[in-house]
Amino acid sequence: LVFRYVRNDGQPDSSVWLVGLKNIFSRQLPNMPKEYIARLVLDRRHRSVAIVRRDGAVLGGVTYRPFGPPQRFGEIAFCAVTANEQVKGFGTRLMNHTKEAAKVQDGLEYFLTYADNAAVGYFEKQGFTKEVTMPRHRWVGYIKDYDGGTLMECAIHAALPYLG
Ligand code: ACO
Repeated sequence: LVFRYVRNDGQPDSSVWLVGLKNIFSRQLPNMPKEYIARLVLDRRHRSVAIVRRDGAVLGGVTYRPFGPPQRFGEIAFCAVTANEQVKGFGTRLMNHTKEAAKVQDGLEYFLTYADNAAVGYFEKQGFTKEVTMPRHRWVGYIKDYDGGTLMECAIHAALPYLG
């Protein structure tokens, strides 16, 4: 099992992993329009971390949009694990790999996300809080307002090894 940092860079493997991810998000996030999921996952500004099994099957992942300096935060758009692989610890490993990728590849200092109410407990276990401590000018106007979710934040510390 590997955790792949992937973006829509035109490589055939990247397209296969991103399409696999889009299909999982569509099934696991039924309230999100499928076209919206497809657009963001394949958007060249977004980054993803995909859980890829040995045989190439995608089991889950995260898609986020990184904002460069001076914002230095990422907005997590989607996060899901395929139904028959949930509650086995993949969600925690996935978020640790995503924090490490965001730090090393994108230089991010925070994640923000609108968590579905059912997923607030999962994000809390991953270190997200309902209190946003990042100065407002760094994020207001950058992320889309979305009703029906709870805005949550997680700091990403440059000195912490998330895969330790
Ligand atoms: N509520 C409360 N706690 C949860 C939830 C939940 N919905 N899901 C998992 N947890 C807890 C687990 O009990 C576990 O706790 P533990 O470490 O004390 O045992 C911990 O979080 C991690 O569990 P994992 O097994 O690693 O999580 P899993 O692989 O099941 O992945 C995920 C969690 C991604 C939320 C998965 O259940 C899923 O895909 N759900 C459906 C889609 C979804 O709701 N995605 C988030 C929507 S919000 C967004 O995308 C921005």
